[in-house]
Amino acid sequence: MPIIAPSLLAADFSNLRHEMGSVAEAPWLHLDVMDGHFVPNISFGMPVIKALRPHSRARFDAHLMIEPADPYLAAMAEAGVDHITVHVEGNAHLHRTLQSIHALGCKAGVAICPATPPEALSEVMDMVDIILVMTVNPGFGGQKFLHGQLAKIRTLAGMIRQSGRDIVLGVDGGIDETTTPLVTEAGATMLVAGSAIFGRDDRAAAIRGLRAAAKPATLAPSGE
Ligand code: DX5
Ligand code: ZN
Repeated sequence: MPIIAPSLLAADFSNLRHEMGSVAEAPWLHLDVMDGHFVPNISFGMPVIKALRPHSRARFDAHLMIEPADPYLAAMAEAGVDHITVHVEGNAHLHRTLQSIHALGCKAGVAICPATPPEALSEVMDMVDIILVMTVNPGFGGQKFLHGQLAKIRTLAGMIRQSGRDIVLGVDGGIDETTTPLVTEAGATMLVAGSAIFGRDDRAAAIRGLRAAAKPATLAPSGE
C-alpha cells in the first residue's frame, strides 16, 4: 500500500487549517516551497508551515524548490517539518546538504527533475531516505503526467533494491487514479497528489481511491 502525501499546494489557501484537516487520514502532508528562482512560481514558506504544525498529526514532508536550499534548512526544521527534500539540480554540495538535514533530526530526501538521469543519485544512495521523482516539471500543480519518467522510476527502484536500504520512492506531479497503477507497478511507494485530492469534494474518498488504484510493483530480475 503506497504512502499518500496530499500536496497542500492544491488546497484553498484562504482556509489552510480546515483544508489540512480534510486530509487527516493521510500519514504525510506534502509542502511545496517555491522561491520564484529555482522554479517560476512562489508558494509559501516557514511562517505558514509553523502556523499549521500544531494542527496536524501528519508527517510534514517539505519539498524545497529553492536555490540555494542550505541557508533555510535549520529554519525549516524549526518550523516543524519531519522530512526535508531538496533537488539534486542546483545543489552543488548535495552530500553536505543531506548531512545537514540529518544533523537537524529530519529525514533527508532528494528530488529529481524530468531532464535529470537517475544516475545523478548514485553517490547518495547510502544516505538518502526519500527519493522524489518529478513526473512533471516542478513549479505548478495540475500539470500533465510525463509518461517518459516511468523508466526512471523503475531504474531507481532497482538502485534502491541494490542499496539494501529502506528508501521511500516517491512520485510527484500528475498523480491520479489513472497514473497511480503505472507508477506503483514501476516501483513507487509514495504518491504526492495535489489536484487529485484537493480538487475533489470528498478528500477521504480521493485518498482511498488512490490507494485502491495502486498495483504491486513488478521489479526487474536481480542483477539487471
Ligand atoms: C509541483 C509540486 C507538486 C504539485 C503536484 O511542482 O511539486 O507537489 O503540488 O500537483 P498535482 O498533483 O496537481 O500534479
Ligand atoms: Zn512537490
